[in-house]
Amino acid sequence: MADNTTIDSLLHEERRFPPSDEFVAHRVATPELYEQARADRLGFWAEQAKTLLHWHTPFTEVLDWSNAPFARWFGDGRINVSYNCLDRHVLEGRGDRVALLFEGEPGDERSLTYAELTAEVKKAANMLATLGVTEGDRVVIYMPQIPEAIIAMLAVARLGAIHSVVFGGFSAESLRARIDDADAKLVITADGGYRKGKVFPLKPAVDEAIADGGTAVKNVVVVKRGGNDVTWVDGRDVWWEEEIATMSDEHTAEAFDPENPLFILYTSGTTGNPKGIIHSSGGYLTGAAYTHKNVFDLKPETDVYWCTADVGWITGHSYVVYGPLANGATQVIYEGTPDAPQPGRWWDIIEKYGVTIFYTAPTAIRGFMKAGREIPQARDLSSLRLLGTVGEPINPEAWMWYREVIGGNRCPIVDTWWQTETGAIMVSALPGITHTKPGSAQVPLPGISIDVLSEDGVHVGAEAGGLLVVTEPWPSMLRGIWGDPDRFVETYWAKFGDKYFAGDGAHLDADGDVWLLGRVDDVMNVSGHRLSTMEIESALVAHEMTAEAAVIGADDDTTGQAVVAFVILKARHQKDMSEEEAAAELRSWVSKQIGAIARPRDIHIVNELPKTRSGKIMRRLLRDIAEGRALGDTTTLTDTNVIDVISQAMLSGGDD
Ligand code: WTA
Repeated sequence: MADNTTIDSLLHEERRFPPSDEFVAHRVATPELYEQARADRLGFWAEQAKTLLHWHTPFTEVLDWSNAPFARWFGDGRINVSYNCLDRHVLEGRGDRVALLFEGEPGDERSLTYAELTAEVKKAANMLATLGVTEGDRVVIYMPQIPEAIIAMLAVARLGAIHSVVFGGFSAESLRARIDDADAKLVITADGGYRKGKVFPLKPAVDEAIADGGTAVKNVVVVKRGGNDVTWVDGRDVWWEEEIATMSDEHTAEAFDPENPLFILYTSGTTGNPKGIIHSSGGYLTGAAYTHKNVFDLKPETDVYWCTADVGWITGHSYVVYGPLANGATQVIYEGTPDAPQPGRWWDIIEKYGVTIFYTAPTAIRGFMKAGREIPQARDLSSLRLLGTVGEPINPEAWMWYREVIGGNRCPIVDTWWQTETGAIMVSALPGITHTKPGSAQVPLPGISIDVLSEDGVHVGAEAGGLLVVTEPWPSMLRGIWGDPDRFVETYWAKFGDKYFAGDGAHLDADGDVWLLGRVDDVMNVSGHRLSTMEIESALVAHEMTAEAAVIGADDDTTGQAVVAFVILKARHQKDMSEEEAAAELRSWVSKQIGAIARPRDIHIVNELPKTRSGKIMRRLLRDIAEGRALGDTTTLTDTNVIDVISQAMLSGGDD
């Protein structure tokens, strides 16, 4: 992603920010963690699993790697994830602590203590059991960011069933593909949710997704949130509120195999179909709780934590649901967008709830930078003591702005690198220990072993770039791809044998700190969301007008990358409408096929695509064109003319 000049200037980053004495005096993570993990990695993880979690049956076996890369962690223990996030807090006297401080976009508020949340989850678990959900069943959750989304996840987990949360911004088609792949028997949704001052409907997408009766879905449970009208299928659809009202709030959590999948989360890969990443129960929860406690310096009695991620993404799973709740944290949940109804909404929320730990994405920070510092500066943000970022590289300018304007130059920033597949944070500063450096994710966490390798698997050493790998198994590692073990092995473990290949380029600087340089595969990162170029290309060519399409992720000041498509129309459609109209039609088509997050920023209607002699589309050239750079080497092109034609079409404004 970054060109050589940027890498050079990054590598000469001299700024370092040590933690304050005050922060160090009260820090949660201590330097001994690094030593303990180095001395005995498995012993270290066993210790974390034992001290952070409750095991119905304690484990004696830490890791079984004999069937690598299929791991078993803590395999002879027994655990219930929901019990760990709820009941034990109540039983140990923390029932009155607030778990969720919910703020709806319209301004409605709700708070739930651990005791209340536990009672709600027990009722929901009883409801799901009545609807026939049992251990191992798959339940799809398609919801706005409201407490019921979390209650639903914990209720599914409580029964030993497997949830698959689908982000509410995905289309009916994407939802259907996930319902099919997971073979889900139940969908939990809402009538709608609030976004940008309006209700966005969700139930209609579920109706459309399963209308043909060709899925395994028997029931749809609908939470009332948007108040929008919904159509109803008797015998299939049930209202959450009506069912819950009749349920007991007694429910005993059964203990399960810690290797039982807790959830499947679909994420984009290099091919067209999203992959169903499988996470375990015991190992995953260990990773989520351990990282949440240490990376965020969590003091659960006093902190008010806020992670802005939606529960539809892995960040929402690990750092809204499982990490914080396992650790007994008090956290804010906000339903809407940062700028509704006005651009200071997030800062108002921080001021109102006295948020102390704040975790968000670089895209959001860059958006706020554009809107102007006066907006946050008009609020009292003095409660904040720690800031985090995730999802994409953060440029040093944005990092410095975050530190100064939001963090008042007093809050450490943790830039956390990880992935859907890793389940939990892997590379990050530890606040109170690491001297932070703008733009670098820095160091692997205690217990995590990473390396940067050349294409042929050799360690690159300081001041060099290569590919990021994880060299030892870790508890929250993915356990596979749902229904496709071969793809799991092929995607992550074929390139470097026994090392996990992350798909990211990385650079080690002279201090040995890690700089993430973006994906090295066909995965784009738009606003911190993973999108596959292939998936969007497939959507584009599925339109009857399209003859051929190429999609690239072009650099974008705010969103990191933006989706840019080059499309050749079929001859018979070329006269049907103007290029502007065709581009507009295709943009909304992609939105309908995949979801609004995949809608291309630009679609260029072109007559030809640059290809190598062997017929491969030269994406690098398209990226150069889209980013307005001087063109790179074109010697392998079949027809160099194509480039001129495309560039000229763009200069004359050939997009929408
Ligand atoms: C990117 C999100 C740079 C990376 C948790 C990774 C980052 C992909 C960072 C995973 C970071 C995530 N710095 N890049 N701090 N965090 N990434 O699965 O390319 O949605 O492979 O998980 O986001 O995205 P995913």
